[in-house]
Amino acid sequence: MLPLVFTVLVLYSCFLTSGSCDLYDELKELKTEFDINLYQRLAEPENRTNLIVAPASVSISLGLLQFGARGNTFMQLENALGYNIHDPKVQDFLHTGYEEVTNSSQGPVVQLACALFVQAGVHLSPDFIEHTALWANSSLQKINFSEPNSTAAQINEWVTGNTEGGEADCIHLDTVGSPLTQMAVVSTMYFKSTWQKKFSFTDTQSLPFTTAEGVTLKVPTMYHMAEVNYGQFHTASLERFSVAELPYLGETVSMFVVLPSDRRTSLTQIESHLSAKIITVWANSLKRMKMDIFLPSYGAIKKISNSYLQSRQTFSLFPKACQYRDKQESYHL
Ligand SMILES: *[C@@H]1O[C@H](CO)[C@@H](O)[C@H](O)[C@H]1NC(C)=O
Ligand SMILES: *[C@@H]1O[C@H](CO)[C@@H](O)[C@H](O)[C@H]1NC(C)=O
Ligand SMILES: *[C@@H]1O[C@H](CO)[C@@H](O)[C@H](O)[C@H]1NC(C)=O
Ligand SMILES: *[C@@H]1O[C@H](CO)[C@@H](O)[C@H](O)[C@H]1NC(C)=O
Ligand SMILES: *[C@@H]1O[C@H](CO)[C@@H](O)[C@H](O)[C@H]1NC(C)=O
Repeated sequence: MLPLVFTVLVLYSCFLTSGSCDLYDELKELKTEFDINLYQRLAEPENRTNLIVAPASVSISLGLLQFGARGNTFMQLENALGYNIHDPKVQDFLHTGYEEVTNSSQGPVVQLACALFVQAGVHLSPDFIEHTALWANSSLQKINFSEPNSTAAQINEWVTGNTEGGEADCIHLDTVGSPLTQMAVVSTMYFKSTWQKKFSFTDTQSLPFTTAEGVTLKVPTMYHMAEVNYGQFHTASLERFSVAELPYLGETVSMFVVLPSDRRTSLTQIESHLSAKIITVWANSLKRMKMDIFLPSYGAIKKISNSYLQSRQTFSLFPKACQYRDKQESYHL
């Protein structure tokens, strides 16, 4: 048995189980590639701080925008996502994946929702309205952006309704208060599950944990012995690391934990090596193994707004100079 001390959480991945054709694999790879690119773009400015991202909520929003976009904007969205949402095969793939991931009969509860808040009085094409209604639990809501207080209240209310009463204060007045704002896309992802094999509360103990800065702290660490999928790999520049897959109840969703083998290897070095192909290699080559699992008991505290706003600027799809023009010319909503 190998003892594992997991340092930092890296990436969540939902692996869809059905379908086997090449197109399906190709789309799956494109989707994972998007998720990883997004993660890397967000992680870079975060500079080694902890980060939790739900790429699916971003790709769902961009997919929704793609239905209404034309010209340059459409192409930028297509480049970012890697697919054209008008292609029926793509829609079929995304729809199936969405149904599988959100099918809670097998264990985890995953809820994805997306809303497009549009300035009251703006005319939308019936075609776009129809697509929105069919698109992954999306809804269209009229809002008056000239009234920032009620705008923020309306959006926060929608967020609360889609996250089982979760974080209700994530939209701030300064984000929505501009008279130039014509629309806002808001998406939520709610995930709740228990591990396939639960950690016992009584086995949690205070153990040393080394942070990215090399500082050693004592943190509450969960422990159990379990059969997990495990493998050892190395990057192109030969930094070695281990990967363990911890399944949630029902085994439709699991968490991949990545741990550098050498203390001197930073997580950043491993992260820059991530790609959709590499994650597929992991998924296909991990071996079932009985081992001692030590996992720091972690929680996410709502630091979301600050880091989200920063990352939002970095992840700019539309070049700043043509942002407004593009919206006017290219959205045929
Ligand atoms: C990131 O952190 C490292 C070390 O902690 C520091 O040297 C570097 O300047 C930081 N970079 C940014 C962009 O904050
Ligand atoms: C959810 O999964 C169960 C069990 O695999 C299956 O019987 C059911 O049809 C699925 N529901 C949907 C909506 O896909
Ligand atoms: C769709 O959104 C509603 C709330 O608007 C939520 O209750 C439901 O669970 C969501 N469905 C899925 C499959 O995520
Ligand atoms: C939006 O709010 C402003 C300010 O309260 C008001 O003048 C305007 O008529 C409202 N627009 C709509 C479409 O309700
Ligand atoms: C909007 O909210 C701000 C801060 O909460 C408050 O000072 C202001 O009076 C509100 N405006 C209206 C029109 O309710």
